[in-house]
Amino acid sequence: MSTPKLLAQALPRLRLAPRRTAGSIVRHVRCYTAATAAPLPAAPSRPAQSPMRRAPWPTPMQRRTFSASATVSHGHVEPPKPGEELYVTFIDKEGAEHKLAVSSGDNLLDIAQANDLEMEGACGGSCACSTCHVIVTDQEYYDKMPEPDDDENDMLDLAFGLQETSRLGCQVVMKPELDGLRVKLPSMTRNLQSSDFK
Ligand code: FES
Repeated sequence: MSTPKLLAQALPRLRLAPRRTAGSIVRHVRCYTAATAAPLPAAPSRPAQSPMRRAPWPTPMQRRTFSASATVSHGHVEPPKPGEELYVTFIDKEGAEHKLAVSSGDNLLDIAQANDLEMEGACGGSCACSTCHVIVTDQEYYDKMPEPDDDENDMLDLAFGLQETSRLGCQVVMKPELDGLRVKLPSMTRNLQSSDFK
């Protein structure tokens, strides 16, 4: 602030003290100037926030979300595309027939489980048990399948009610040549796994 302005502000007060000398007036003005020009004391700084409060809120992409997708049904088979259906018939223990439209590449264990047919599949299709035993009813279809390998033959030896056309359901994969396949589920299975013999 300029000196004339300061004097204008100070004069009303000085009129209350008429006996002051010129020297005291100058001192008073200097003190007034120094007082008004002095910087304000610094405001106390805010205490630092705790790390917990300073943690940034996660962005939408970082937030965890719940999935609303449909749960995958057991068996993990997809419905066949129109015009690409293959048919397989399961004959259950009571003799009832279940004709199913399936996709190429699905195996009999997955198909049976996806359709709630009674096939245990204790080893999950890793050719280490005999609970997916099926009997192919037509020799013609049996001959169209690749030969069972040693692992499958070993497990078939443990199967209850073994027959010439027995196979493990998890090892039979549907393909166009097997369209119309019919398989029978044995009246019972033995839940013996290869790990039982180690
Ligand atoms: S499910 Fe175990 S061998 Fe097929």
